[in-house]
Amino acid sequence: MHIRKASLKDSKDIVRLYKAVAEIEGGLIRTSEEITLNYVQSFVTNSIDNGIILVIENPEDKNELIAEMHASKPGIKVLNHILFNLSIVVHPDWQGKGVGRKIFSHFLEMVSSMPTITRVELIARESNTKAIQFYQSLGFKIEGKFENRIRTLSGALVSDVPMAWTR
Ligand SMILES: CC(C)(COP(=O)(O)OP(=O)(O)OC[C@H]1O[C@@H](n2cnc3c(N)ncnc32)[C@H](O)[C@@H]1OP(=O)(O)O)[C@@H](O)C(=O)NCCC(=O)NCCS
Repeated sequence: MHIRKASLKDSKDIVRLYKAVAEIEGGLIRTSEEITLNYVQSFVTNSIDNGIILVIENPEDKNELIAEMHASKPGIKVLNHILFNLSIVVHPDWQGKGVGRKIFSHFLEMVSSMPTITRVELIARESNTKAIQFYQSLGFKIEGKFENRIRTLSGALVSDVPMAWTR
């Protein structure tokens, strides 16, 4: 399985991947309609310029992406040691098969070779226990709770959990 840096040309394939993941509620914060080409092109460009963005192609079909992850610097001098706005998605057909661990481990190896980055931040929905346990296993620690931050499509309020990896 080949992990590579993404380019702007991947944007349409990333849209398709994000929409497939967004079909299952409880993971991504955006709904399928909110995943537009503009939104994706904007984080792809920003991550290429100010952070890291990785993708994995489907080994049977190079035109399909099965995973993507990105994070970027906030663009503020005093926060220059941080990568934030982290997002990771694995296509539903490929979840639970080690793909997420593979791309995230590669990402953290890249971070390790960037001495100026000493902190990586992410936010996970409290109900997304699978993801929270996954991040903890990679060295992320829970740093608090944003109470009732998310209003789900059914109207229920769910908290968000800020987590961080520090060198
Ligand atoms: C969260 C996500 C990125 C994990 O990627 P994945 O490829 O499914 O995960 P992996 O198969 O690499 O498993 C990594 C760890 O996740 C956990 N995990 C995976 N599937 C699980 C399941 N069905 N139940 C419980 N834990 C599970 C385990 O801790 C696993 O650890 P292990 O490697 O020791 O077995 C992926 O499931 C996904 O894209 N989910 C939807 C979008 C989402 O929730 N993104 C994160 C938003 S914060």
